[in-house]
Amino acid sequence: MALTTQEFAFVCGLVRREAAIVLEPGKEYLVEARLLPLARRAGIATVGEFVGRAQRERLLAEQIVDALTTNETSWMRDREPFSAFTDVVLPELAAARPPLHRLRVWSAACSSGQEPYGLAMLLEDALTGGRQYEIVATDISAEMIERAKAGRFSQLEVNRGLPVPLLVKHFQRAGTEWQVSDALRRKITFKRVNLAAPLAPMPAFDVVFLRNVLIYFDLPTKRAVLQSVRRLLRPDGWLFLGAAETTIGIDDGFQRVVAGRASAYRPRASVAAPVNVMGRR
Ligand SMILES: C[S@@+](CC[C@H](N)C(=O)[O-])C[C@H]1O[C@@H](n2cnc3c(N)ncnc32)[C@H](O)[C@@H]1O
Repeated sequence: MALTTQEFAFVCGLVRREAAIVLEPGKEYLVEARLLPLARRAGIATVGEFVGRAQRERLLAEQIVDALTTNETSWMRDREPFSAFTDVVLPELAAARPPLHRLRVWSAACSSGQEPYGLAMLLEDALTGGRQYEIVATDISAEMIERAKAGRFSQLEVNRGLPVPLLVKHFQRAGTEWQVSDALRRKITFKRVNLAAPLAPMPAFDVVFLRNVLIYFDLPTKRAVLQSVRRLLRPDGWLFLGAAETTIGIDDGFQRVVAGRASAYRPRASVAAPVNVMGRR
């Protein structure tokens, strides 16, 4: 049975308040499709009844927010930001930071983990001289954080962009799935973080991947998220956004730079315009 206008309005208000995700009118079908499995799992007959119960039961409300995040991801998504990370960003950081500085990278909407594990694989190959690194991987979805932590991927997921040499080097077969090595998992701290809420203090990052998440937010939220990310980024750090995302016209504290064949963003005071940082290609 279809959702009533009030039920749909409740869901829109909930995900906007809790995750800053904007659901446009007309997305009723999406809400129904995503909530039907939750209702079935809870033994509740209809999606409408499930939404009604969620107005009184916090746990169900949290499940709704989780279910309405879009977790689409793949390995080395769009390729160029990852090439720029290896070819431009890491050599520059290696030269700029003292040898004992542990490089800190944040995957700020990590979904099921392909982004942070991919970055860890690139760091393992690129860093020399005993240089250490750590990755913090966060997402609002409790389910995604659990999946990412587990580091298990289906054959279908592995087929989406993971180069075979990296599969061979960093995974073991686990039945029909693939398990990321413990060595790699130890380099990543996974935790639940809502980017749209005030961010807890964290030590500064050298690089932030904030990819394909700003698109779900309205303009004031995009601005607030970019500002809080900037506060956690070193003054000469690097920010990578999704292909359809930018800081331009949203947060003037960032400047766009060309890094190899990708665009990246850096806190404004650290770079003079125009900037073209070429990769080692
Ligand atoms: C499309 S995925 C992007 C994953 C990865 N960064 C990539 O580019 O492939 C978007 C992710 O943003 C997360 N997300 C949505 N709203 C969020 C919020 N308010 N705070 C933190 N993460 C959020 C979702 O749970 C989802 O996993």
